[in-house]
Amino acid sequence: MNNKLLRRSFWILALFSAVSVSNAQSDKGFVVKVNTIKASVQPTMWGVFFEDINMGADGGIYAELVKNRSFEFYNPLMGWTVNQKKFVEGSLLVQNRDEKNIANPRYIHVTVNQGVKGDFGMTNEGFRGMGIKNALRYDFSVMYRMQSSGVKLHVELINSKDESIGDTALVPAVSDNQWHKQGISFIAKATEPKAKMNLWFEGNGIIDLDMISLFPSDTWKNRPGGMRADMIQLLADMKPGFIRFPGGCIVEGHDLAVRYQWKKTIGPVEDRQLIVNRWNTEFSHRLTPDYFQTFGLGFFEYFQLAEDIGAEPLPILNCGMACQFNTAEVVPINQLDPYVQDALDLIEFANGDVTSKWGKIRADMGHPAPFNLKMMGVGNENWGPQYLERLKIFTKAIKEKYPHIKLVNSSGTDPNGERFDYLNGELRRMNADIIDEHYYRRPEWFLENAKRYDNYPRNGSKVFAGEYAAQTDKVVSIDNKNSWQAAISEAAFMTGLERNADVVCMASYAPLFAHIDGWQWTPDLIWVDNLRSYGTPNYQVQKLFSLNKGTDVVPILSGNEAITGQDGIYATACIDKKTGYLILKIINTSASVQQKDIKIEGASKLDSKVKVITLKSELTAVNSFDAPTTVSPVDSEMGLNGKSLKVSLAPYSFSVFKVKMK
Ligand code: AHR
Repeated sequence: MNNKLLRRSFWILALFSAVSVSNAQSDKGFVVKVNTIKASVQPTMWGVFFEDINMGADGGIYAELVKNRSFEFYNPLMGWTVNQKKFVEGSLLVQNRDEKNIANPRYIHVTVNQGVKGDFGMTNEGFRGMGIKNALRYDFSVMYRMQSSGVKLHVELINSKDESIGDTALVPAVSDNQWHKQGISFIAKATEPKAKMNLWFEGNGIIDLDMISLFPSDTWKNRPGGMRADMIQLLADMKPGFIRFPGGCIVEGHDLAVRYQWKKTIGPVEDRQLIVNRWNTEFSHRLTPDYFQTFGLGFFEYFQLAEDIGAEPLPILNCGMACQFNTAEVVPINQLDPYVQDALDLIEFANGDVTSKWGKIRADMGHPAPFNLKMMGVGNENWGPQYLERLKIFTKAIKEKYPHIKLVNSSGTDPNGERFDYLNGELRRMNADIIDEHYYRRPEWFLENAKRYDNYPRNGSKVFAGEYAAQTDKVVSIDNKNSWQAAISEAAFMTGLERNADVVCMASYAPLFAHIDGWQWTPDLIWVDNLRSYGTPNYQVQKLFSLNKGTDVVPILSGNEAITGQDGIYATACIDKKTGYLILKIINTSASVQQKDIKIEGASKLDSKVKVITLKSELTAVNSFDAPTTVSPVDSEMGLNGKSLKVSLAPYSFSVFKVKMK
């Protein structure tokens, strides 16, 4: 559907709701009752969903610049080209270690015969190139094994014209036929978004190489081998209440052999067993054959990230079922034990004392203090009786040992339909702690569903709006846009989540990151290239909600009704008991300016100055690398007239009004 048509249908709906009620209420203002607490807003309310999709981890937040550093991709030299002026048979071989069942069997065996820099070497292309910054330090490291000395390694960064933009040389220090790790740092001499790295072999001799790695030094918190700071900063800026990881479908895997197994993602990076990324071949229209999970970013790093950004960790584990869109492979019930054990061990890894087996592993990795895990997901988008059968076994085992851990359960892939109704009913009967609902729907759905939770049961299971994003075309269409139209419809919907904070305890947009040259799925919250990153209009909406969360929901009414689309307006009100602010979030989805008088009832005294933060734009507006702030918040101030606020809501706008209560 083209943009014009989309805009028309979106607004037909908005207008329809406007017309249906406006006759009765257009002249009425709004009333806020600050003394009537309707619900507490959980500190976890607005969070983030991380999955290694769209080159989110490898090639994304994981700052490693070398692709296929350990030669474990299906094609062992994928990402590498061999440069050899004079062909000598056997100069470069991919070999396997003698040991069986090890995580990282392959390495390259290099025979150097009168090697000269520029004559014999290898080039790594990076993840769609390497983003290199002028004057920044880069840390090269390698694992090597040599029988006798004589080989020198030249490391060279080249720009897209093949010109050198930084180099260094490493002389392997030990030649005892054992594996060693050695590193060297150098400063880049130019900025280049699509650099490559040459590795030249000089001298004579035989050397085995593995884990050939290059990291920028400006990682998040300057951690060696760490994460891309600009991307993490965007998350930190949202002050998310939780971070869900590692997905998404990645948890399930295409089949069980390539499901996500957290135990294989911890410990020394060279011992973390790489697997294919299930998004590698998922979409024939967006094939990404070089997409693997090296797990340099693993569960320890996710927990550490959660701690860094002040978010509650929410790991999701495989429940013994592979992706039901792919193979739908299930593990027989009598073989489920190792899966359940993984869940129990994860809790010990996160929270256990340093004397416990898994707590000690965490401590050895540098974090003796517990990570304070409070919740965990079992299964992602799994459905059917097979899921419930497995879930019950997990739940019993986890609750017996860790009764305080809250469990997040899947309600399948869609927010309605037979599968959803079945699971939702059964899970509520089981008194599930938290039910994970997903909605990838068109913008109109988000407007229509702002009341979705108004009539949900107030007791029993809570809801996690675990994955949502307005699709301006349709799910998995490459034409979906992160437009203001999508974002404002999500904002309207989110007022319904907030108003029902007694039912909805957590919510997260999905997916989180996308690399402009390596994505499979759109829309996404944050877009990156090798050097830059920006938040979409959807990001701005998420951030505005999160930064202005409040602690308690109070009514904001038009007549006696919640504001759920009357005149195209959606609104919620919260107070923040910690800061003393009354926070109003008002979304005008209509094409016209709307004037409203808002009476604030129940406050003894109010500051006369009101802080206003506004997002507004054309419906088709998007942010981009060149114009990252087209849709971004604008701060202003207005006055209060006694206890009433006269607001003028711009067309297609989301405004936050903050009134200090004394
Ligand atoms: O967010 C992208 C995918 O959408 C997730 O991996 C999956 O859970 C959902 O289908």
